[in-house]
Amino acid sequence: MRRSKYCGEVGREDEGKVLTLQGWVHSARDHGGLIFVDLRDRTGIFQVVFSPDVDREVHEEAKKLRSEYVIEVTGPVTRRLPGTENPSLPTGEWEMYATELKILNTAKHPPFEIEDDLDVKESLRLKYRYIDLRRPKMFRNFLVRHRLYQVTRRYFDENGFIEVETPFLTKSTPEGARDFLVPSRLNPGTFYALPQSPQLFKQILMVAGFDRYFQIVKCFRDEDLRADRQPEFTQIDVEMSFVEREDVMEVMEGLIYTIFKEVAGVELSTPFNRMSYTEAMEKYGSDAPDLRYELTLKNITDVAGRSKFKVFADVVRNGGVVKGLTVPGGIKYSRKELDDLTNFATEFGAKGLAWVKLQENGWQSPIAKFFSDEEKREIEKLMEAGRGDLMLFVADSPDVANDALGRLRKKIAEKEGMVDDSKLSFTWVVDFPLFEWSEEEQRWVSMHHPFTMPFDEDIDLLETAPEKVRAKAYDLVLNGVEIGGGSIRIHRKDIQERVFRAIGISEEEAQLKFGFLLEALEYGAPPHGGIAFGLDRLVMLILRENSIRDVIAFPKTQKGQDLMSGAPSPVSPQQLMELGIVVKKKT
Ligand code: AMO
Ligand code: AMP
Repeated sequence: MRRSKYCGEVGREDEGKVLTLQGWVHSARDHGGLIFVDLRDRTGIFQVVFSPDVDREVHEEAKKLRSEYVIEVTGPVTRRLPGTENPSLPTGEWEMYATELKILNTAKHPPFEIEDDLDVKESLRLKYRYIDLRRPKMFRNFLVRHRLYQVTRRYFDENGFIEVETPFLTKSTPEGARDFLVPSRLNPGTFYALPQSPQLFKQILMVAGFDRYFQIVKCFRDEDLRADRQPEFTQIDVEMSFVEREDVMEVMEGLIYTIFKEVAGVELSTPFNRMSYTEAMEKYGSDAPDLRYELTLKNITDVAGRSKFKVFADVVRNGGVVKGLTVPGGIKYSRKELDDLTNFATEFGAKGLAWVKLQENGWQSPIAKFFSDEEKREIEKLMEAGRGDLMLFVADSPDVANDALGRLRKKIAEKEGMVDDSKLSFTWVVDFPLFEWSEEEQRWVSMHHPFTMPFDEDIDLLETAPEKVRAKAYDLVLNGVEIGGGSIRIHRKDIQERVFRAIGISEEEAQLKFGFLLEALEYGAPPHGGIAFGLDRLVMLILRENSIRDVIAFPKTQKGQDLMSGAPSPVSPQQLMELGIVVKKKT
């Protein structure tokens, strides 16, 4: 190594020493006689000065320097003259008068500046990801991600877990998304599926008696992408034998505690809050509630059903609900703001959004005339609303009303500045229903995945009242983002078959898709359960980033493209022929 140390690490102890530094020219300024270069590497910036009085030839060479040239410089480190220090740089008290310069490589002018507060299109950042990753913030993000891997591995190792790799070229694992398929050349006409998760294999490892497994593993899901979703992402995947729900939750709380302490320097208090799915939906309108702010959904179904407002009364008569949100101080909202909120609610399925402003002299609202004074008082009480507040209502099926109001809750909290960014609000959501009704497929589908164990006392409802069956499942939510989910699994073949039947998976289909798991369950499967955390989401939340793309080195765009490599791309006719594939235009 010719390099003495990193640029950002030069300090007092180096005064008077001759150092050799290597890195990128962050900037080069020619001030007549002197050339000042900010030399940058992954740790920071150090100022190098080229003076004709020190070495005329080196100074001539330095005139060629441009942004992002890769160079090596040697010279003595000196304290800067009083008044020329740069307090914004940790190394700003020192500089080097270069006696040697080697240009190791030239560089084209970069497509954007290497600065943290950057205002360029993300597509440009992704196309030139290697330039983007030179920004200090990005390096810091990946250092945190790296630390998280190390802490996680150590935690599991210390707790008796062993890391096992499971295959990527495998069969479909249902986690609710589409599969990415890989054609098999050696077995024409057949396909591997990239795993949506290692679910089946980790269960098989429990049958094998491994007892405690973990893996930091890539998962692949062909689904519509959002800020917190990528087609390939990383899970911290865990499975344990002879455990109940609480055991898994406790181990994972320990992991989160250790990660936050050692990676973020934050001491969390455990155990985390626990909330039932029903409470989450009723009060927050979401199964991933953000508890950094209050603002809960209120239910006025009874009084609304008795009122003369036909829209509400009809919905209630047909088994629906009327629920609402109270916006403190919301009478200030303009007509346009109310229209925007209405449009927002209808985008998520609500048929309308009724509003009431509680003015000094009573209700100001298009629906005021339909309510008696007593009903008004009752509604205000249920809504915990007072003068100056705005009440918003949605009348619909519980699902639609909760969802629309849940989203409205989030929007209003952001709009009103109710979100305390310094808070970390963890909650477990438990007692999920085992199934949900799919309108699209007209059948019950698994809310998590079909290997989730029902509550013991609900097993006999599988055939008679599937909607009532509760699951031994749990999700961990941080600041309104689902960071993990898992369950106790079905370890008995007969129960597994009954669950498949309940969701309309025939015996043949089950054999075809998961025959190997069903067979394994017959060879002494212990009771077991586990969980998976979304590692990218966790890193994103620790760093307070808004997108997981900022914590994934080479992420994909909304359309699933890698703008740097150009993937996905067509392949040669030769390759297609070997695979026996003919590409047809979609009609
Ligand atoms: P689940 O499907 O809930 O469970 O996934 C676990 C966690 O992975 C993260 N996640 C994602 N992160 C980024 N991009 C995506 N497309 C994406 N999809 C999921 C989420 C989620 O909570 N096999 C089960 C776990 C188990 O039961 O043990 C599973 O995969 O943070
Ligand atoms: P209308 O009587 O249809 O003009 O509606 C009067 C008010 O009730 C309007 O502000 C509508 O947005 C609102 N509204 C209509 N349908 C619903 C509904 N299902 N839930 C809540 N508000 C509604």
